[in-house]
Amino acid sequence: MLAASAIEIIGGTPLIALDRIYTGPGRIIAKAEFLLPGGSVKDRAAKAILLAAREDGRLKPGMPVVEMTSGNMGAGLAVACAALGHPLVVTMSAGNSPARAKMLEGLGAEVVLIAQVDGSPGQVTGSDVNAAAQAACAIARARDGFYVDQFNAAEGIAAHETTTGPEILAQFGGPVDGWVAAVGTGCTFVGVAKALKRANPGTVCAAVGPLNARPLAGEPVLDARHKLQGIGYGTVPPHWDPSLMDMSVGISDDEAEEWRRTLAHREGLYVGYSAAANVCAAAKLLASGRLTADAVVATVLCDTGLKY
Ligand SMILES: Cc1ncc(COP(=O)(O)O)c(C=O)c1O
Repeated sequence: MLAASAIEIIGGTPLIALDRIYTGPGRIIAKAEFLLPGGSVKDRAAKAILLAAREDGRLKPGMPVVEMTSGNMGAGLAVACAALGHPLVVTMSAGNSPARAKMLEGLGAEVVLIAQVDGSPGQVTGSDVNAAAQAACAIARARDGFYVDQFNAAEGIAAHETTTGPEILAQFGGPVDGWVAAVGTGCTFVGVAKALKRANPGTVCAAVGPLNARPLAGEPVLDARHKLQGIGYGTVPPHWDPSLMDMSVGISDDEAEEWRRTLAHREGLYVGYSAAANVCAAAKLLASGRLTADAVVATVLCDTGLKY
């Protein structure tokens, strides 16, 4: 098939059995989202939000697009904006890795770095993200741009409910027993959980967060700083649906480091921290006794390790 643009190759990622890093009981299968053109799972939300806004007239031809990003949403938007002919301005906390700003600039985006409020380099907090979001809002107003607002845009969830979830079911060949995903905006977790629970209401859905910042589990935020960039902002995201979460799994920085290294060495999959946290959490879910010994748990390899 000839793809008409980079937008058309967003979606349809391979589903991989992680049988070398995890040998049982049960099995972990993972969507290779790092293969998408922007290098992460966020390409799906970026595509869905921009296409919907163009369709209903909120985003006019040539209009600037503005968003706050930890890097990945920005890259997805940059891919879509290049293909659709929109200039892109992104604000990003200075705590995110410099590799992200470089990639965004390489894709033609204007990057505005925002000083950290209480985080440190490599460790971005909810306050850091809020500061970047406020700056993005102000820029969108000043430039008459379209503010993407990934935390509140409903199309982000719909993108995963209509693509990622059904892809897992089709590629695996039926319902799965478990679903595990790290939560940033929550679009991936919520959208896929809806699709998987529709196919099998018994699918156990586990939300992944930093060990010491899991408000989704009703726990106080003990330490807002962690290495899982792109997730775990210490707040419950606006369109969170608690009825979809069967359990919450906390992952430490050390665990994410170790699983990231092992995924690269044993599976040949060089991915980021949240992807490693997801796979570690899938193994914990299988070890928890909630599932049978032949259970299959699906997750996502959120982004490439080249961004860190
Ligand atoms: C590296 C990484 N992993 C996971 C996520 C979480 O995705 P979602 O916003 O759909 O919860 C993000 C979101 O930006 C991310 O950048």
